[in-house]
Amino acid sequence: MVQTTIETMLRQKIGLDASSIGSNAIAYAIEQRQSRCGLPNLKDYYDRLQHSPEEFDALIETVVVPETWFFRDREPFIYLKEWSKTAWNPNCTLRVLSAPCSTGEEPYSIAITLLESGLAADQFRIDALDISQVALEKAKQAIYTKRSFRGGAINPAYFEETGDRYQVRSHIRKTVQFVQENLLESHRLLEHQYNVIFCRNLLIYLDQEARSRVIKTLDQALIPPGLLFVGSAETSQILHDHYQSVDHSAAFAYRKAEPRPSQPAPSKVSAIKPVSKPTISLPRLEQAKQLLDRGQFAEAAQLCEAHLLLDRTDANAYLLLGKIYQELNRPEQAEKAFQKAIYLNSQFYEALIELALLKEQQGDLATATILKARLQRILKL
Ligand SMILES: C[S@@+](CC[C@H](N)C(=O)[O-])C[C@H]1O[C@@H](n2cnc3c(N)ncnc32)[C@H](O)[C@@H]1O
Repeated sequence: MVQTTIETMLRQKIGLDASSIGSNAIAYAIEQRQSRCGLPNLKDYYDRLQHSPEEFDALIETVVVPETWFFRDREPFIYLKEWSKTAWNPNCTLRVLSAPCSTGEEPYSIAITLLESGLAADQFRIDALDISQVALEKAKQAIYTKRSFRGGAINPAYFEETGDRYQVRSHIRKTVQFVQENLLESHRLLEHQYNVIFCRNLLIYLDQEARSRVIKTLDQALIPPGLLFVGSAETSQILHDHYQSVDHSAAFAYRKAEPRPSQPAPSKVSAIKPVSKPTISLPRLEQAKQLLDRGQFAEAAQLCEAHLLLDRTDANAYLLLGKIYQELNRPEQAEKAFQKAIYLNSQFYEALIELALLKEQQGDLATATILKARLQRILKL
């Protein structure tokens, strides 16, 4: 009972959907904080929480998931580099937001990408925000272990080796400004406008209302036709009526549509060169993804099924098909597709999330809990 009330407090403050990390994880965080406060009784800890904003912040620090690494998912950065080289007008300052940035690996990866795309450090500005003060302190120090690279190359041009640690070199550090902010309460954000926003791997932890609020805030901050990058499991959250998926597989990036001619166009639009339509024919699966994004679900399903006739071992295709079936309101077929994706790749994080959410919607909380426990194990790995 008391735990449920604390979960509600967390939901209201940071939008956390307790089921996304599991009640056990929250119970564990509360236990840790209780013992740090020397309060053996949960009710006493709850009283402390209510009267001490500092303790509430400390609890938030304990429940948030700071998992991140350099060049996470790779493709978004490959796409950003290409976009910056071909679509951005370098005479304008490119403004980028990384929210949430956690311990800094994401905004520094963006900085390296932009420098490699040919922009000079004074041709772009990166703002990076997170609710976690602990994560931000680490981000500012910019000292990392090998774990932050997940086996990726560590380029000495960008990182200085000191023992078993690597510090981001100062010319890259200088391009990122870190600020502590709760995205659910964020007002400072709206004072700025951005050409590119990275909001990855936060929405999956939020409840529906919080997701909508965050997406609305980011939408107001993004100048069309700027880019919004989300996490691989978060693409279904995008406002598909005025965002279009970019033509780059696994970038999970969306271009914000220009306002209709009757609306006044924002002054910075000219900074982006007009986008030409792709002339090459896209692989079937990519076409299916675009059709899904455009809301042409039946056609998307047809293409995806055709692709699977040729390759029955493509777990990504089953995941996509599952998402399409969900849009078509065919939950049983969606479930089968997600299960096949997981059968083909037992560690398939996104498919496990989709299946867990589906089971939850169907009221099958027992299966959803088992799936979430599996997701937790994968996260720990
Ligand atoms: C999994 S990390 C994502 C980091 C990075 N974007 C990535 O994809 O690697 C999630 C981060 O969200 C932050 N966070 C959670 N709720 C937040 C909120 N309401 N406002 C701002 N940051 C929040 C956490 O502190 C954590 O650092």
